[in-house]
Amino acid sequence: MNRPSFPDFVVADGDLDLTKLLVALAEGCKVISHLVNNVGLSDIIGHTGSSNVHGEDVQKLDDLTNKILTDYLTASETCAGFVSEENEHILTLNAGGKFTIAVDPLDGSSNIDVAAPIGTIFCVHERLTAPGGDVEGVDFLQKGTATRAAGYFIYGSSTMLIISTGRGVNGFTLNTADNEFYLSHPNIMMPEKGKIYSINQGNAQKYDDGLRNFLNYCGEVDKDTSRPYSLRYIGSMVGDIHRNLIKGGIFIYPANKGETKGKLRLLYECIPMSFIVEQAGGKASDGKMRILEIQPTDFHERCAIFIGSKNLMDKALEFVNQ
Ligand code: AHG
Ligand code: MN
Ligand code: MN
Repeated sequence: MNRPSFPDFVVADGDLDLTKLLVALAEGCKVISHLVNNVGLSDIIGHTGSSNVHGEDVQKLDDLTNKILTDYLTASETCAGFVSEENEHILTLNAGGKFTIAVDPLDGSSNIDVAAPIGTIFCVHERLTAPGGDVEGVDFLQKGTATRAAGYFIYGSSTMLIISTGRGVNGFTLNTADNEFYLSHPNIMMPEKGKIYSINQGNAQKYDDGLRNFLNYCGEVDKDTSRPYSLRYIGSMVGDIHRNLIKGGIFIYPANKGETKGKLRLLYECIPMSFIVEQAGGKASDGKMRILEIQPTDFHERCAIFIGSKNLMDKALEFVNQ
């Protein structure tokens, strides 16, 4: 293969401990990719019967992917702390490590049994407390502007790793012949002008007037602005945002009458996806402020999110702040 493999590419980034952490994460997600691609032939499809800290049904694969990531990151000996959608509390993995990681082990779980794209989202910070002891809350409750590395794995028609360490966004595709990630999408830039909007239109009655006016704007006929735009929504944040990253578009999960802070979690969904989109030239806001400037106060806090191409973001925020 005359493309750099992920391990070779990421070593060039400099920090050896961070390289070891990210390579271990990629190894764990190769295992997850294999499980996802064969889920219908195994007994890991379906629900565990328990619910997580968010009161959501936990699927067997949510639990299993969470365990795989914990095991691989512990083995890397570089990851001090772990916070996950599937764990109520923070975990100390390697007290001597200098990084913490926030993960959504499996995003879009409702799509597991219908073979639609799902993913793993991750966000790495440097711990603030001294290495050697247990991690503390402050090690995780850091702004997105302090992100050291973030991205996602998408298990779709191909398995890809989309990652940024703060110097642009690169995409790697898993080669099924040798089970290695190779650089396939160097320096991804999100199209400035998008024509796709992603939102759960079924909740429209619960949205504020300003947002509803934006949705009406998207549906109007206007040749100059290539409207009507196309509505694309697959119920998987990773799937919807990855499509928009490549083709241009906006993804919105707003606060609404039923979910006053929105649904998506700040630490392991909104911050990492916003870091990627901003590094690719897009924008990300909670409707009022830049997501990466929000100071987290709780490991599992939710936040509203508007994220995508500049033209659609500017127009959407104009409507919702009228
Ligand atoms: P998760 O599977 O990690 O709980 O995330 C599901 C999220 C996100 O992936 C998606 O954008 C959103 O839920 C869809 O929510 P609705 O079904 O309410 O539209
Ligand atoms: Mn999720
Ligand atoms: Mn999840």
